Amino acid sequence: MEPLIKLHGVERSYPLAGGRSWVLRNIDLVIDEGEFVSVMGPSGSGKTSLLNVLGLLDAGFQGEYHLAGQAVHLLNGKQRQLLQRDAIGFIFQHYHLLDDLTVAENLDLPLSYRNIKSGERKALVGDILDRFQIVGKKDLFPRQLSGGQQQLVAVARAVITRPKLLLADEPTGALHSSHGTMIMELLAELNREGATIVQVTHSLANAGYGSRTLQLRDGWLQASP
Ligand SMILES: Nc1ncnc2c1ncn2[C@@H]1O[C@H](COP(=O)(O)OP(=O)(O)OP(=O)(O)O)[C@@H](O)[C@H]1O
Ligand SMILES: [Mg+2]
Repeated sequence: MEPLIKLHGVERSYPLAGGRSWVLRNIDLVIDEGEFVSVMGPSGSGKTSLLNVLGLLDAGFQGEYHLAGQAVHLLNGKQRQLLQRDAIGFIFQHYHLLDDLTVAENLDLPLSYRNIKSGERKALVGDILDRFQIVGKKDLFPRQLSGGQQQLVAVARAVITRPKLLLADEPTGALHSSHGTMIMELLAELNREGATIVQVTHSLANAGYGSRTLQLRDGWLQASP
């Protein structure tokens, strides 16, 4: 079976006074459908940069990236946007909820970009509020929630469309351990239901929820043990 993700010779750099600053170096990586992969490495080693490439948020890389059989490096902006909409859920390092939308409106947003009837959208939002036990918060704005609750909403928003590929950038970074455990268990459950997950984490305990761990150092992917 074709792997879900295949990177070949992927590099990312930014112009820097007089030269370039290298962020990702010659990355070769294969991830099969259904895997739960953790990415670790020191601050600044390129973890978020790698996730941004995988999540089609950054098209400025060199090399080849195949996702679900599509050659991402050959797609135009519109095609990338559609693939992202249909295949990817992203949980950001900082929650990225929209401040002037309520919890329910934030959750409805990814659905609104799709061709889904409003009744069905309401039902999906209701289901996910239930599943994440945040029904009581649905009419509140993000600033009225604790950090942990905001992150729960961010996770709910990332999974409401049931993406094939779920990318999570330190999903529990800012949370107390009980909320953190809850989010990790939710990710594990989504993985059992079929989602492929790539998570960035600084915590060995969280990495343990995945089935293998990648190490980044100065933009280089270290050989797996
Ligand atoms: N737009 C940009 N322009 C220039 N350099 C950038 C840009 N984005 C990222 N970088 C550089 O890329 C390197 C890797 O950053 P990245 O955010 O991927 O690190 P990280 O591993 O996620 O770190 P952290 O654990 O602190 O989140 C850093 O040195 C950063 O300065
Ligand atoms: Mg980061």
